[in-house]
Amino acid sequence: RAALRCDALGRWVVHVIRTIMRVLLTGGMGFIGSHTAVSLLEAGHEPILYDNLSNADRSVVDRIGRITGHTPTFIEGDIRDGALLKQVLRNEHIEAVIHFAGLKAVGESVGKPLEYFDNNVSGTIKLLEAMRSVGVKRLIFSSSSTVYGTPQHLPLTEAEPTGEATNPYGRTKIHIEEILADLCRSDSEWSVVCLRYFNPIGAHPSGLIGEDPNGIPNNLLPYIARVASGRLPYLNVFGNDYDTPDGTGVRDFIHVVDLAQGHTDALPYAVSHTGWIAVNLGCGRGYSVLEVVKAFEDASGRRIPLHFAPRRAGDIAANWCDPTLALKLFGWKAKFGIEDMCRDSWHFESLLKTECETR
Ligand code: NAD
Ligand code: UD1
Repeated sequence: RAALRCDALGRWVVHVIRTIMRVLLTGGMGFIGSHTAVSLLEAGHEPILYDNLSNADRSVVDRIGRITGHTPTFIEGDIRDGALLKQVLRNEHIEAVIHFAGLKAVGESVGKPLEYFDNNVSGTIKLLEAMRSVGVKRLIFSSSSTVYGTPQHLPLTEAEPTGEATNPYGRTKIHIEEILADLCRSDSEWSVVCLRYFNPIGAHPSGLIGEDPNGIPNNLLPYIARVASGRLPYLNVFGNDYDTPDGTGVRDFIHVVDLAQGHTDALPYAVSHTGWIAVNLGCGRGYSVLEVVKAFEDASGRRIPLHFAPRRAGDIAANWCDPTLALKLFGWKAKFGIEDMCRDSWHFESLLKTECETR
């Protein structure tokens, strides 16, 4: 019986060793990357963070350490630096890459298309060349619901056509998805999972990591949070004449902790399959701007003053996804609701405000 027990233990150890992976996270210090690092560490993996800090703070790596009890390796570098990437992929014995690094401000991309194509598209090509040269051919890519453009049908399934983005940022995502599909067609050893995120919001429940954009936020949740804390006076609601139940825009908001877990759950799939696939990550239901405002007021106990403003150029009325493919392939499903998202956003914002005031 002792021998049998040893054998079972041995098999378990082998299983654990085999499933623990060393994963390079490009853009790993950012909003979604840092939460994914936490999720990977909690699952026993070893994330290595690679980031040029263009939109992140160095302190994130220690914060991840405080949450998980394990401070990951951080390497400061740019994805367009192919030589450094090759060195890191080799020296760190990387087995898979999760590629978050990129510029993501929609409005900015309209004025700076070359910067967006250089950073996002050329940067991805450099990364793929480095990966190919060292034989690492597993990639999970941060795509976006923006690739669907204006939805023809709701909920959006992965079968809906893509290619009609309204801005250069969205077009970089479409181009990268296409490049990745061509790469998989050219070489059957590649495994690429494009995760199409819907609207990630919230923060880690510890309040240690979250989203704190520079300047005035473009996205709804960071903006509401700053109004609630008094850093901004009121929220502009862009359009109340959409064909939606209350006339305001409807989106599929997803807690960033759920989104991060989606990457951890996609990893075994990327290891055991080859080829290209795109998978939606969302909750599968929409909330209107006014519903989110109400949920945030409830979570924070603060009133959010509103001004109704004209529609924002390039906005769509509504989008939400059918997330069943992620459940089928990865066993993943979002667990958190809008109340959790608003509570954790508010917690993060409150700590941030205190930090700013005591500085
Ligand atoms: P973020 O800006 O917080 O994180 C991106 C990180 O990449 C930052 O830490 C930045 O410093 C780094 N970076 C940028 N360019 C780099 C380069 N050339 N080399 C190395 N590092 C670089 O953004 P996020 O919200 O965490 O988004 C991560 C990814 O998910 C992005 O590709 C974004 O387009 C995509 N995405 C985000 C959302 C969203 O709403 N946040 C929605 C859909 C898709
Ligand atoms: C946008 C991008 C998407 C990107 C995402 C995260 C487009 C078409 N979509 O999504 O590609 O992945 O940001 O970066 O560009 N709103 C207000 N007041 C505000 C801010 C937003 O009313 O101050 C409304 C918007 O009009 C929209 C909803 O809130 O109806 C959500 O907006 P936002 O958070 O910016 O996300 P998206 O536009 O859905």
